[in-house]
Amino acid sequence: MREKIVAGNWKMNKNFPEGIDLIKEIIVKGASVNNVKIIVSPPYLFQHEAFNLLKNTTIGLAAQNCSEQENGAYTGEVSAQMLKSAGTQYVILGHSERRTYYQETDQLISLKIQQALKYDLKPIVCCGELLEEREKNEHFNVIKKQLHGMFQGLTTTQICKLIVAYEPVWAIGTGKTASPEQAQEIHQYIREIISNLYGNEVSGNIPILYGGSCKPSNAKELFEKPDIDGGLIGGASLVADDFIAIAKSF
Ligand code: PGA
Repeated sequence: MREKIVAGNWKMNKNFPEGIDLIKEIIVKGASVNNVKIIVSPPYLFQHEAFNLLKNTTIGLAAQNCSEQENGAYTGEVSAQMLKSAGTQYVILGHSERRTYYQETDQLISLKIQQALKYDLKPIVCCGELLEEREKNEHFNVIKKQLHGMFQGLTTTQICKLIVAYEPVWAIGTGKTASPEQAQEIHQYIREIISNLYGNEVSGNIPILYGGSCKPSNAKELFEKPDIDGGLIGGASLVADDFIAIAKSF
């Protein structure tokens, strides 16, 4: 049985006291959620305080990025080692906003995955096609290329530590969700790609999350699909009631 996961991607939202309040509210409201791993991802600055608040709960703590470098003269960067030492457990890597606004390539993301794994952070690795790529029927090839690029050099032991998120770029923050059938089709395809690279058993055990305008009103029908193991939630993760309602949608 694959783990069911609902992970919030806060992006660059909330100031420090607001972020802390949101975590406290999620702790209280999330206490009634069973059998679903809830993960929050506040900005770097709040990671350690979040860790202190979350340490006696089952809620996981993710960062939204990490450096591909070990340490040293990289002004403004935060390393996987720093995150680990602050209590971070997961790290979102390869989000489409990082690809678009910060020119992250699959090759760079693969280096970040290596750093994360080196310090025992669980990567939540994102893939997803642009609207024009879907319209040209290139989405399967895009996903395959992204996964092959990001998984470069990963051993079977390493790949087993990954969580994958499928986030069609046209559905992120737009209010347009992929239909459960569209999402399932790609999730199944992702599993096939992993299976071709690492075998059936490995691919059957990797959680694959859907992201892109997932909300309480559409989460249930998405999560009912056999290859959708949960969600990576942006906007709706900033409202505790919505976020927890999504986690209760299984
Ligand atoms: P959204 O974002 O839920 O606001 O569409 C999802 C994401 O970017 O992870």
